[in-house]
Amino acid sequence: MPASLLPEALLRPDGPIAATDRELAAVFAGWPLGHPDARLVQEYLTGRAAGVLDVSGRPAAGSGAEAATMGTDGNGTDGAGTDRTDGVDTPAPGSIVLDDASGALALVVALTGAGPVVAYADSIAAEESARRAVDAVEAVGSRIQRMASVQPTPGLRALAEASRSLPGPCRVILSAPKAVRVLDEYLEVLAPVAAEFVVVGRDKHMSRGLNAELAKFYDRVDVSPGRAKSRLLIASRPRSAASQGTASHAPVPGASDRIPAPRTAAVSTRVPGIPDIRVSAFGACFGGPTSDPGSELLLDAVRSHLGPAAPATDLPEADGSPPAAAEPVPTDADQPVAPRRILDLGCGNGWLLAALGALHPGAALTGVDVSRAAIASATVTCAAGTPDGNGSRARAADPHHSQPTCPRLLLQDATAPLPWGAGAEAVAAGMFDLVVLNPPFHDGTTIETGTARTLIHRAHELLAPGGRLVCVFNSHLRYRPIVDRVFGTSVQWARDRRFTVVSAAVPA
Ligand SMILES: C[S@@+](CC[C@H](N)C(=O)[O-])C[C@H]1O[C@@H](n2cnc3c(N)ncnc32)[C@H](O)[C@@H]1O
Repeated sequence: MPASLLPEALLRPDGPIAATDRELAAVFAGWPLGHPDARLVQEYLTGRAAGVLDVSGRPAAGSGAEAATMGTDGNGTDGAGTDRTDGVDTPAPGSIVLDDASGALALVVALTGAGPVVAYADSIAAEESARRAVDAVEAVGSRIQRMASVQPTPGLRALAEASRSLPGPCRVILSAPKAVRVLDEYLEVLAPVAAEFVVVGRDKHMSRGLNAELAKFYDRVDVSPGRAKSRLLIASRPRSAASQGTASHAPVPGASDRIPAPRTAAVSTRVPGIPDIRVSAFGACFGGPTSDPGSELLLDAVRSHLGPAAPATDLPEADGSPPAAAEPVPTDADQPVAPRRILDLGCGNGWLLAALGALHPGAALTGVDVSRAAIASATVTCAAGTPDGNGSRARAADPHHSQPTCPRLLLQDATAPLPWGAGAEAVAAGMFDLVVLNPPFHDGTTIETGTARTLIHRAHELLAPGGRLVCVFNSHLRYRPIVDRVFGTSVQWARDRRFTVVSAAVPA
């Protein structure tokens, strides 16, 4: 694996890499070692601009760089032959940086190119930390357009609108997505305006499926040499006429009007009394158009303990042994009344909210999520409801139910301090009788449990006196002690081979 894509000349202390390194090291303590993906993009863009690298990230023919670079790792182009003739970069008049969690990619792109940069992330928490980093570099901060400035229009539509603000065909840099369907959606929206589409990530997060997806939109897909276990997939020669550019690089009107429809499926559950629910999910939404098995267990526990049915018999332990006898089942005295104000903290595609709406038809439902795709998906799911048309909106119009059940959905980082939102729409402490929580334990492709800890604290603040948290997690995660610490005590409501559901109440 080469130590660098670049020849020595570009790596000297008076060279272009050293100049951008000084800016980046002032913002990121671990630069460049702690940011291998952004470093690789920095080298690729610098080498392309100098004409020493071709579109595949290898020495450009005739540039004299072939002998000077430290070699490649033998990975050639993928599906497009080994054409190395287009070595000199045609300057892209703008760039789009996607799902850059730290701001390092946006800064690298802005520092190595002259055009405007659009930065978009599905997670508004990622976008916020990127914003802080980018704002630290005065020289380029103003050239980076962020989605915050085009809110309240969320998600892919805002991205499409922003891409149209660029002066011509652009270069897209995407941090490797968790699922191919995320790439697919970005390609649908951006391939019409992107002359080059680059995916950057750790080797272990790159799949063949990503190459195949890029190849649907571009005639050439290259795999760059690896560097520090990171790699680029570079798609060029777009099939769409618009992104091939025009002589004048004129804006491409209407090129990105097409917003992909969410994937949709009718989801049945084994939980008694819950109808099939038509679930929709945009690409980046957790789980796709499905119900999460952990959330199904949680829903069944809520039905058993808070719904019209009697408590279910205890489930066996993970190893098949009888249920732990010590687990207290709530008595009538601590059995809360049916919840009227329910919050799903991290609502994903909205399936759980829609199901809770079916279980408690009179309740006011709220969903909060940090992901633009999740809120967009939950909006569609909750509006459609069950395949027979008996959706939330239909129930809202039912004269037998006094309160509307169409959920309020909020794009919000739930780790942020309360209150969230403003005015009548604000979500504040003490507002809910029931908070359901199926917390994340991944941040992108990394395992992370700190968010769950903060969300458990937030749930406690959000509950009214007598209100109750119901939380599900993978049984190997040690979340129950956290719930115990925050609430004083908890009870196990359910457990199966993979998941544990615990409940804890705020004193009345
Ligand atoms: C395991 S999923 C649960 C989805 C849904 N409640 C269900 O049961 O199907 C966790 C959700 O939490 C969201 N999430 C992660 N971090 C968050 C944060 N800081 N604030 C709000 N939502 C967050 C994720 O986007 C994801 O949709």
